[in-house]
Amino acid sequence: MSRSSPWETLRSVVRFGRIETDPVERRLARAASVADLRRLARRRLPGGVFDYIDGGAEDERTMAANQAAFARVGFRPRVLRGVEKVEVGSTLLGKPLAYPLVLAPTGFTRIADPEGELAVARAAQRAGLPYTLSTLSTRSIEEVRAVSDGRLWFQVYAWRDRGLVKEMVERAAAARYEALVLTVDTAMLGRRERDVRRGFSLPPTIGPGTLLDGALHPGWTWAFVRSEPIRFANVAGRSVGDGASPVTLSDYINTQFDPALAWDDVDWLRSVWDGPLVLKGVQTVDDAVLAAERGVEAIALSNHGGRQLDGAPATFPLVAPVADAVGGRSEIICDGGVRRGSDIAKAVAAGATAAMAGRAYLYGLGAAGERGVDRVLGWLQADLTRTLSLLGAGRIGDLDRSLLDLP
Ligand SMILES: Cc1cc2nc3c(=O)[nH]c(=O)nc-3n(C[C@H](O)[C@H](O)[C@H](O)COP(=O)(O)O)c2cc1C
Repeated sequence: MSRSSPWETLRSVVRFGRIETDPVERRLARAASVADLRRLARRRLPGGVFDYIDGGAEDERTMAANQAAFARVGFRPRVLRGVEKVEVGSTLLGKPLAYPLVLAPTGFTRIADPEGELAVARAAQRAGLPYTLSTLSTRSIEEVRAVSDGRLWFQVYAWRDRGLVKEMVERAAAARYEALVLTVDTAMLGRRERDVRRGFSLPPTIGPGTLLDGALHPGWTWAFVRSEPIRFANVAGRSVGDGASPVTLSDYINTQFDPALAWDDVDWLRSVWDGPLVLKGVQTVDDAVLAAERGVEAIALSNHGGRQLDGAPATFPLVAPVADAVGGRSEIICDGGVRRGSDIAKAVAAGATAAMAGRAYLYGLGAAGERGVDRVLGWLQADLTRTLSLLGAGRIGDLDRSLLDLP
């Protein structure tokens, strides 16, 4: 055995990389997964803001069940299938997307980062994915269109004032939004106890407790106070209140939204909107069948990320029975608990056309702004590509239930 000097050995392994001076890149360099970005976001955001994003209803059982359902299902990988190149491009509502994912609507996005919805819309366009703007967004329908030529969907709630809904739908059409997403799981706001405990309002108020929280998170606080005040941008200046003075989300929603929403309202929405309609918040096979019979183009199986009815079923296990019952009459989107590309692969293999994700991109936004969202969307695509490769599937169309190890 030849002996080398310790210096020679050291010289062969020591590498000094460039020292990263950009704080955002430095932060991102320490993250390898959505879970890592969640941890970074938790550190960077005031506690109340992080909890508003991260939390769910009551005991958060449904929220946990969404992720646990993906964890419970494994794969049955096939080998020696001669798959040299993997393509994850797909179509949804008749149009192409880079991979089968839609960015979910999330209200009050500027709370995570001052660029808010603009940052997310730009990142979604770069990634080749549709972005759904929330009714309760902090940038307006038109402001978001101004920064993105990509696929944009608009989410509506049933305001008691249907005139307001009609007006928003017309604005979305004028701004070339492609699909309308009607959220149907919010007759009342779920009891999000983390927010209740903190007395959390939108926008957050500054008092003794939050002052300390803000001081402990100077990066977020400095950016927040330098940016223009946060409003419900789509109803700015309207009599329904635009959040210019702080409100709790439950007071706002419980006074402004109509709990008596019914199937006839879906027909009414059809009469004021020409494009595809997505029903978001369907949680049973029975309702999915009714939605398909009404002719909605897509059904988003969703429990609002576990933020509404605690005890509602996890969404991923609904995909297969709903796909079987609907039989291709409507496309199926699986929303809730998606944190990895392998979750998207599982949803599609079970029968969904695409998955939808909310918190995954919000953690990226909270941890590192727009570049954090880019990072998440890039990881999900790379994860999905790797998953297909290791499953022996060359295309999204090759994913089916035979590749899943269902319990
Ligand atoms: C902070 C936050 C705000 C949300 N706001 C809305 C909203 O305004 N409208 C809506 O339909 N869903 C809203 N959702 C639900 C998401 O659209 C989506 O259903 C949920 O995030 C999916 O679960 P996931 O976060 O595990 O991906 C929100 C979710 C979060 C986390």
